[in-house]
Amino acid sequence: MPHTIVILGASGDLTSRKLVPAIYNLMRCGKLPPETRIVGMSRTPLSDEQWRVMLKESTQKFAGESRFDADSWREFAANIYYQPGDIHIDDDFASLKTRLAEIEAGTATTRVYYLATAPRFYEPAVEALGRHGLTEESEGPRRVVVEKPFGTDLATAKHLNACLHSVFHENQVFRIDHYLGKESVQNLLALRFANTIFEPVWDRRYIDHVQITVAEEVAVGRRGGYYDSAGVLRDMFQNHLLQLLMVTAMEAPAKYRADTVRNEKVKVLDAIRVLTPEEVLDASVRGQYVGYRHEPGVADHSQTATFGGIRLEINNWRWQGVPFYLRSGKQMSCRTTQIVIGFRQPPLQLFSGGLPGYNEGNRLVIQIQPAEGIQLHFHTKVPGAGMRLRMTDLDFSYSEEFRDRLPEAYEPLLLDVMQGDASLFARSDEVEKSWQIIDPFIGAWRDPEAPRIDLYEPGEWGPAESTRWMEEQGRSWFDICPILS
Ligand code: BG6
Repeated sequence: MPHTIVILGASGDLTSRKLVPAIYNLMRCGKLPPETRIVGMSRTPLSDEQWRVMLKESTQKFAGESRFDADSWREFAANIYYQPGDIHIDDDFASLKTRLAEIEAGTATTRVYYLATAPRFYEPAVEALGRHGLTEESEGPRRVVVEKPFGTDLATAKHLNACLHSVFHENQVFRIDHYLGKESVQNLLALRFANTIFEPVWDRRYIDHVQITVAEEVAVGRRGGYYDSAGVLRDMFQNHLLQLLMVTAMEAPAKYRADTVRNEKVKVLDAIRVLTPEEVLDASVRGQYVGYRHEPGVADHSQTATFGGIRLEINNWRWQGVPFYLRSGKQMSCRTTQIVIGFRQPPLQLFSGGLPGYNEGNRLVIQIQPAEGIQLHFHTKVPGAGMRLRMTDLDFSYSEEFRDRLPEAYEPLLLDVMQGDASLFARSDEVEKSWQIIDPFIGAWRDPEAPRIDLYEPGEWGPAESTRWMEEQGRSWFDICPILS
């Protein structure tokens, strides 16, 4: 069946930087279903040809020059159309409907509506699609993709879900989190559920704690207007970090199907204790990089956190008593996303001799980006006399093992939407429960009575308080930048 991807918010950054390059790359590697068309709608008055010219330039830049070639672009561009329209003007949706009917020429087609607009347009766009019968499935499946942020707290997320459900069935809704499209996140599922050696030690008996870090080197830059009201909790924790936590902590689903996978993920969220505002302050640390307040769009005395570290407890048989530390920040030492499984120490320290370093537990470090791979850290005897030990590692690197380029996160996700596979997308209850867990942190951090925010210099691993906070709990952050070959 042919496919039409209708992008609302066609002239925005997301479309030119991510979506169209991803669809183009899918075509280049032969994965794009035949007869896939792109129809863009936004307010800018453009013809098909003008939009194609603009997209050619951006795709050349963002799909990677080496992957771009003029002949394949010509073939690709023939299936790109543009329909000017304003989400608030009802007639514009009538015109979109007519245009889609012309393009699809009466052939049953899978249609994907991609909301690539600013979040305030999600609800009017969904309502208009509903009013114009554009969601009816008599002539092929109709699906909608919703970008993050999905609401700004539990109440707004519920409202948005209700709006979506007034027009679409849940199985037509694809809430995207690009972290789930990353190869190494999916490999975590493979690591856990296609191997037997990790399962027996993947619980409270052997694991002391888990650290999930998403550190970024970049500053907030031009996004100050959005970021100052979002902060790191809304921008990174409610979505990406909790997704990583769910994949790390979930039970094996009985089948690899959207519902079974998502049921297991939601069970993890269900088992997380929602903290009270008082508990939040003890279970978290926050910071702001020096210079943030000078970014355009940021308030002079902003208390918005650009760094956060939080501790969550999962109260089930597998994880009871194992703290999960989640941390993320802008302007940190390096760009790294990693999950560190910190194992307990042996019951007897035979070789320690009281020397520092010997009392580190084993670690399984899952590098999500930019150096995708897995390392197992264990003690080894240093050659020579005496039982001197050193931490060494077994190292698996994606790029050394597989020479092929790793696809950009949007590529597999877009393909999944076209094929109707929602395994790697958030379900409505998942999103609401995530907000329920994060909302108390947002509330407590924003409280005018909360202690002033700690500052950190760009290039550090967050504020000094973050290191101290971990040390008070008898642990330390694994502050290592990935080695890029
Ligand atoms: C986005 C956030 O969702 O994820 C950004 O809004 C952040 O602030 C980005 O920089 C990080 O994504 P990635 O794939 O570069 O780790």
